[in-house]
Amino acid sequence: MEIAETIVKAREVVRSWRSRGLSIGLVPTMGYLHEGHASLIRRAKEENDQVALSVFVNPTQFAPNEDLAKYPRDFQRDSALCSSLGVGLIFHPEPLEMYPSGFATYVEAPALGLNLCGRSRPTHFRGVLTVVLKLFNILEPTRAYFGLKDAQQFFILKRMVTDLSLDLAVVPCPIIRESDGLALSSRNAYLSESERRAALVLHKALTQAEASVLAGETNSLQVVSAMKKIIAQEPLAKLDYAEVVETKGLTLVNEIVGETLVALAVYIGQTRLIDNFLWKANNK
Ligand code: PAF
Repeated sequence: MEIAETIVKAREVVRSWRSRGLSIGLVPTMGYLHEGHASLIRRAKEENDQVALSVFVNPTQFAPNEDLAKYPRDFQRDSALCSSLGVGLIFHPEPLEMYPSGFATYVEAPALGLNLCGRSRPTHFRGVLTVVLKLFNILEPTRAYFGLKDAQQFFILKRMVTDLSLDLAVVPCPIIRESDGLALSSRNAYLSESERRAALVLHKALTQAEASVLAGETNSLQVVSAMKKIIAQEPLAKLDYAEVVETKGLTLVNEIVGETLVALAVYIGQTRLIDNFLWKANNK
């Protein structure tokens, strides 16, 4: 397994693969890898000749009041996991390699970034799009793999790939959960024992919401208000948002018909967690 800290070195590796006609699966990450990332790597391995994984805690997607400085990092553990899963290249640049002095060009988020996380993190998706476009340009993937816990991120990236005529496929991958339902996230590492228990409220609210939709509830307001009631019962939880949107433009909908995303962001203590379920009419 190669480890590249510079763009020049990463390009050398991917161009040698490309020149041999090999396909490349990219798994972009901010490190502190968990089983969710492992599932993306396995899928990328199955569908491509080589797998590249980036580990970069991207400063431009964090607002000044957010957790950039304390975001968990453990590169040794990450590289051991990657090596055991057959990753061919880890790209692990320093911030100055990605954003050298004078850096001034950003990809603006489309309207899909206005609701859900975009409302409480208004500069977040501009940072995500900018860094992911750079990663695509540097690592030239055939396919790139993203978990659906960050469903809004996936839909926005898919829009960028279409709008900017990028020559790759973005592949959505299912949310991976602990056995009790908590969606895996590097930020779960922030939770104390009692917060870890409280964090289950996201899954509880979403599974009850999904059950009510399955039983025929189509009114978003009802679904949202039932989820809010469940969150309010957990003393360590503070709701950021509970929203229901359609998946083309991520606009709020009153009625759950067609493909719909039901999503939550909740603070458990200081830690902001997100989770969701995707509803397709033919789920019924
Ligand atoms: O989902 C993430 O971990 C990040 O937003 C990503 C896609 C690696 C960009 O920094």
